[in-house]
Amino acid sequence: MKALVLSGGSGSRMRPFSHTSAKQMIPVANKPVLFYALESIAGADIKEVAIVVGDAAAEIRHAIGDGSQFGLAVDYIHQERPLGLAHAVAVARDWLGDEDFLMYLGDNFLEDGIRAPVERFREQRPSAQVLLTRVPDPSSYGIAYVDDATGRITRLAEKPAHPASDMAVVGVYCFSPEIHQAVRRLTPSARGELEITDAIQLLIDDGATVRSETISSFWRDVGTVTGALEVNRAVLDRIASRFDGHIDHASDVSGPVIVEAGARVASSTVIGPAIIGQGSHVVDSVVGPYASIADKCDISSSIIDTSIVLSGTIIADVTRIAGSFIGRDVTLVSAGMSRAHRLVLGDHSWADLPA
Ligand code: DAU
Repeated sequence: MKALVLSGGSGSRMRPFSHTSAKQMIPVANKPVLFYALESIAGADIKEVAIVVGDAAAEIRHAIGDGSQFGLAVDYIHQERPLGLAHAVAVARDWLGDEDFLMYLGDNFLEDGIRAPVERFREQRPSAQVLLTRVPDPSSYGIAYVDDATGRITRLAEKPAHPASDMAVVGVYCFSPEIHQAVRRLTPSARGELEITDAIQLLIDDGATVRSETISSFWRDVGTVTGALEVNRAVLDRIASRFDGHIDHASDVSGPVIVEAGARVASSTVIGPAIIGQGSHVVDSVVGPYASIADKCDISSSIIDTSIVLSGTIIADVTRIAGSFIGRDVTLVSAGMSRAHRLVLGDHSWADLPA
């Protein structure tokens, strides 16, 4: 079984970050979300992987290379334009050959990995398998209508305006080569894309076996800032403490905290779960819980929790930052009195805040 990982697309809902970086490379707990996908694939005993890339091809290739760091053999397939998930399958047709394959959307995160559902697909060999989960906002996803009596999917709809089901399609699919005939029959949807949901619907209409599994463990796509912060929380909830950097005696560290090599914590309180990246400095500050501070950041006389801060950012005299996603090389300094601020700042932006 091979795996096709989709990391093309425009990431419009992740602007401004997706202007300068692929949304699949958004770090959660200081590691790109795409890395968790590749680890899950390796955990399901799949070795041959192709990553579908678009404009961000160079950044993704640079970070993943030949995949050996994950125990995988990774190829890259270029998709000229993001014309839909099924279009990506069509572009990868030759690479996929006539093997079964897993399709993993590179912005999806599944806390429990994918080993168990992939095993069940291998055992039962349906034409296709989808994972479903209940969501509060079904109009943002592909939605499945399931027959209560048989447990079978009767219909799939991509982001319906008035969904009558709250069962969302998770971005991890297993396919037999039958999917290729369905993809060939597709025409573009109302939003101009070749939809994989439509291809699966064709299989259902043809009477093929489309298996579904409902998951209740944590799942999100990092398509939005809120999604990224939720994934960050979930990952940080599972970290174990590790101190490779320096923490001075005047600092207080509690809960699970990672301080990477070359990082320095001085006269500060770090409340876990939290992670402080390589070469970052935290001085006279309170960091955490649920803060991911990337490499080479400088945080002084500030309070920050429940946030992601990307590399090279400077935060000084700011109380309090919460629920925020701050890009690379941002300068954030206080202009006076102290109040809580909620910020979503793009890469290379800066802000002068009232205190
Ligand atoms: O996250 C789950 C949802 O993912 C499903 O519920 C939907 O049924 C499915 O269509 C998809 O919806 P999104 O709108 O979230 O898909 P998005 O455009 O964000 O693309 C998902 C991933 O696939 C992302 O990593 C970008 C990549 N992609 C997307 C398109 C349209 C490609 O590589 N090529 C493409 O042409």
